[in-house]
Amino acid sequence: WIHMVTARTPTNIAVIKYWGKRDESLILPVNDSISVTLDPEHLCTTTTVAVSPGFDQDRMWLNGKEISLSGGRYQNCLREIRARAEDFEDNERGIKIAKQDWQKLRVHIASYNNFPTAAGLASSAAGFACLVFALAKLMNAKEDPSQLSAIARQGSGSACRSLYGGFVKWIMGKEENGSDSLAVQLVDENHWDDLVIIIAVVSSRQKETSSTTGMRDTVETSMLLQHRAKVEVVPKRIVKMEEAIQNHDFSSFAQLTCSDSNQFHAVCLDTCPPIFYMNDTSHRIISCIEKWNRSEESPQVAYTFDAGPNAVLIARNRKTAALLLQRMLYFFPPSADTDMSSYVLGDKSI
Ligand code: DP6
Repeated sequence: WIHMVTARTPTNIAVIKYWGKRDESLILPVNDSISVTLDPEHLCTTTTVAVSPGFDQDRMWLNGKEISLSGGRYQNCLREIRARAEDFEDNERGIKIAKQDWQKLRVHIASYNNFPTAAGLASSAAGFACLVFALAKLMNAKEDPSQLSAIARQGSGSACRSLYGGFVKWIMGKEENGSDSLAVQLVDENHWDDLVIIIAVVSSRQKETSSTTGMRDTVETSMLLQHRAKVEVVPKRIVKMEEAIQNHDFSSFAQLTCSDSNQFHAVCLDTCPPIFYMNDTSHRIISCIEKWNRSEESPQVAYTFDAGPNAVLIARNRKTAALLLQRMLYFFPPSADTDMSSYVLGDKSI
């Protein structure tokens, strides 16, 4: 027999960034972060997990290619879910798995991203969140999404925020064992459904520093990171961001989102050796949005950039999103000359 489960999980984009760990192996951050989970139609990972007495080892395929599961991050997720596995019974198919059997049974995992890897949007966030969710279902682990988020966190920090839709906060926690470092949903996906997300995929992709090594260098060398952790900086922004989200206050939301993205990239520059995630095209996009926002009574679009040059643009409503796309296509039409590759919708089409 074979018992299988398939799950689909969207990626998330941080509006208050996670950057820096206080514990590398447990993946515990130096500050809280807040993100918005994208619509599952667009940028997501689909993972099928299967168990059968015929499988002799744990194996995984990513986009059709076998990858090694020997890394600590995968092993941590598998171990944590196996520890929570419960009895499973499917009478129709005559399958009966006792709680203790899960320790011996091996799993096969097949995972696909529905976005081109070339777009550079591949994200460990959706991947680990989906893996942990699918394994929990397979092994009948009865954990709630917050408890599962603490497991996904051990795969990749940002993954813990993809267990929920809408706006999500990753609480950094205080415990040394990481038990209170988990995600909570601030509001669901219907709370602020005016917002439209457009991702501008920049084509020139210099070799990136991975988030993991970048963060390590930052923690070791950046004074600006220590400034970020102070009560009056990120913790204060977190409170204000929660208020802005609750009140649908787009002006505050945009101001906080843009400032936090810019400060995160300033922290990267403050790292030794400096990390350059944004390029000239990213900078030109920022100038363009800033100029537009200043020409209006209040901001129309927020921008944020993660560990790469792609811009995530959040428009206040559908009308603005249509204008935004029009402007972006005018100033940055996809071509080698403009260094723009494509535009991807992060949520329902406009
Ligand atoms: C810039 O979650 O990829 O996207 O925990 O080492 O796997 P690891 O790092 P990762 O870092 C994401 C960093 C970021 C900001 C964010 O998503 O909050």
